[in-house]
Amino acid sequence: MPTKTATTAKTEKKISRMLTLEVTRVTERAAVACAPLIGRGDEKAADQAAVDAMRRELNRLDIDGRVVIGEGERDEAPMLYIGEEVGTGKGPKVDIALDPLEGTTLTAKGMNNALTVIAVAERGTLLNAPDTYMQKIAIGAGYPQGIVDLDVSPSENLRALAKAKKVDVSQINVCILDRPRHADLIAEIRQAGGRVTLIIDGDIAGVMHTTNPQTGIDMYMGIGGAPEGVLAAAALAATGGQMQGRLVSDDEAQKERARKMGIADFDHKYEAHEMAGGDVILSVTGVTNGTLVKGVEWEGEAVWTDTMLLRSATGTIRWLRSRHASIDKFNPD
Ligand code: FBP
Repeated sequence: MPTKTATTAKTEKKISRMLTLEVTRVTERAAVACAPLIGRGDEKAADQAAVDAMRRELNRLDIDGRVVIGEGERDEAPMLYIGEEVGTGKGPKVDIALDPLEGTTLTAKGMNNALTVIAVAERGTLLNAPDTYMQKIAIGAGYPQGIVDLDVSPSENLRALAKAKKVDVSQINVCILDRPRHADLIAEIRQAGGRVTLIIDGDIAGVMHTTNPQTGIDMYMGIGGAPEGVLAAAALAATGGQMQGRLVSDDEAQKERARKMGIADFDHKYEAHEMAGGDVILSVTGVTNGTLVKGVEWEGEAVWTDTMLLRSATGTIRWLRSRHASIDKFNPD
């Protein structure tokens, strides 16, 4: 006979499972809503369209949801702010991390790899990351635990990964955000013989690339947004990859805000399981074409979306190519 704890755990997993497809609708709708703004040079309008659609759809879900990673603090973000309650309030208590439009500039400029992203997790299992930067390192699945580490030099990490992969360092490809702050990092990787793939934005996709050998990316390194770090950790929780993150800020006010959000040690090195430790469902829909998923496409009145749907409790990854008969049926408000 199962113990009470085991029974409870099983029930919780079932609830999450029922939510899996529901969560997909949220990112699909956000992607379709902002897709007309691809290439139109208006980052704010694209983001707003995604935020509106994501919030509308979230509020249809039978969940008792709380936004832990969202559009910002309550006083600066009117919608999907940190602490906002979402859903009908009737279902399971869950925490929500979201990025309604990851890659606002990519969208405004009509460039690849813009995504809509949401993670739904058991209450209390996602790191409530402040809106600061985070130093990150990530690799895909299949390597011994701990072979890369934020506390050793980039070239040591490069060599350790090459050894574990049984290839020469020249075959290791590191994805890095193209920013002046990464000049030394990029120079060191190249000097050590590694290859660098620069991205202009979108480091959730950057980290997720390490989980898919077809992308040719072996490792992600560098400093990006902390909220994006938690969403990327949620992806790795499902794929079995490894990631570490450490908050970065010189701003005392920002650090104080982080303390208020429960961050006791600002310099702590977070492992992926400390950022996303419970059962988490992650849905990622393409806005523009990308290496993980395709962008939104129209076929007459119909609209196609492409979504990657991951769940950590089972390690299942689904790719959902959906044809929605018409925008009107898709958005029946
Ligand atoms: P937005 O879509 O919110 O603009 O974020 C894009 C992004 O590239 C993130 O993926 C990344 O974590 C962050 O910006 C990096 O910040 P910065 O542009 O300040 O270097």
